Amino acid sequence: MKKLIVLGNWKSEKTLQDATVWMETFASLVRQSERQQQPDVTTILCPAFIHLPYFSGHLGSLPLRVALGAQTISAYPAGPYTGEISADMLSGLVSYAMIGHSERRRLLGETDASVRAKVEMARAREIAPVVCVSELDEVRALHDAYPDYETYGTILYEPLAAIGSGQPDTPENADAKASEIQAILGKLPVLYGGSVKPENASGFFAMPHISGVGVGGASLDPGKFYEIIESAGSSG
Ligand code: PGA
Repeated sequence: MKKLIVLGNWKSEKTLQDATVWMETFASLVRQSERQQQPDVTTILCPAFIHLPYFSGHLGSLPLRVALGAQTISAYPAGPYTGEISADMLSGLVSYAMIGHSERRRLLGETDASVRAKVEMARAREIAPVVCVSELDEVRALHDAYPDYETYGTILYEPLAAIGSGQPDTPENADAKASEIQAILGKLPVLYGGSVKPENASGFFAMPHISGVGVGGASLDPGKFYEIIESAGSSG
């Protein structure tokens, strides 16, 4: 069985109240489902920082294992860095940290250098990095900094035109890119992201070089997110 990963990225969405409603609906869908445990699927939920303590207290009661991830992590250690959330603060709360999402590279000044610093911070606290890339140059920069990245990291490949546009890349194109990424970094898990929906997820799961999907918009809807997890469970 191929191991598949489904990562939900909520981005800058949902109030505390919205998160509670999402969780209640998600929990009832999981409990109603005939195939609750999906041993070959790793589900990772990356809500905003403010939601992490709530989910950490509630996900454990589900009959489906859902790991938590941060959407970013500070490039600095704990200390006088106002507004930053350090790896120390996240340690024990999340298992994964997304690093270098294209929205952060484009709008919030993230660079290959900050990605490098963040990978180091995450690793020092045993938080698994999920570096997001859109271009092979970003992959090469990561390999130059961390030639052994394949031994602990995951890549989320997201072509810019596919993000939030409703126009996903084709599974074949995405697979070809995943294969190029693996030619640079080695045989690590490469996820595809960009307009993944319940209707198109299985096409990506079937590809030989793709190990799962990153889901933005559709993860905000607990029904759609769970459908994608179930589709991974029957595709592995
Ligand atoms: P989308 O976002 O699924 O809404 O296209 C994907 C992402 O940016 O992670």
